[in-house]
Amino acid sequence: MKPTQLKFTDGVVTIRKFRRNDKFRMAEIANNEKVAANLRDAFPSPYSVEDAQKFISMCLKQVPYQVFAIEYGGEYVGNIGLHRQDDVYRKTAELGYFIGEPYWNRGITSRAVNLICDYGFRELDIIKIFSGVFSFNTASQRVLEKCGFEREAVLKSAVIKNGKICDEYRYAKIHYS
Ligand SMILES: CC(C)(COP(=O)(O)OP(=O)(O)OC[C@H]1O[C@@H](n2cnc3c(N)ncnc32)[C@H](O)[C@@H]1OP(=O)(O)O)[C@@H](O)C(=O)NCCC(=O)NCCS
Repeated sequence: MKPTQLKFTDGVVTIRKFRRNDKFRMAEIANNEKVAANLRDAFPSPYSVEDAQKFISMCLKQVPYQVFAIEYGGEYVGNIGLHRQDDVYRKTAELGYFIGEPYWNRGITSRAVNLICDYGFRELDIIKIFSGVFSFNTASQRVLEKCGFEREAVLKSAVIKNGKICDEYRYAKIHYS
């Protein structure tokens, strides 16, 4: 499938290829300490329009396409992406996501996770999708559990975030054709 055609929906939530002008809303949504607190330090905080522009440009160059905008009610509300691993891990992809705080707890991310897992297993020649979640991020753990992921490991004291050490929980979903 050509990247320009990439758009998947369940009728409520859509994941689609980024548009250049998503950068404005992306920067507004991502410039939130409550979002950044749950993500790696590589996620800029504060988050500028320039950060969003660079990120979108990088994603639009990907072949195969792996990072999507999440749309709800016809509006951009967040990001969700897979990152296919390499070498002996090439049948595995890492999953990451965030949505804007005004949209939390409406089931949007769970729907987007199901859509991107369907895409990944169908189009990316992978059999495993995993996500690393900080131990205090109960909302994200719940999302993954609702989407059929299992907690397969606890990486004890693996993370330092905002000056505090915590565990990372590894969640994974495996698909055998
Ligand atoms: C984590 C995040 C993606 C969840 O998105 P969302 O669209 O609100 O998720 P959903 O609505 O699909 O599901 C959230 C679930 O967590 C539950 N939940 C929310 N806050 C919770 C809390 N503090 N403790 C326990 N469960 C919680 C909700 O009740 C819901 O479960 P339910 O459907 O059984 O009621 C969103 O909060 C976010 O973007 N956070 C910041 C970035 C982030 O954490 N990214 C993931 C990094 S691993």
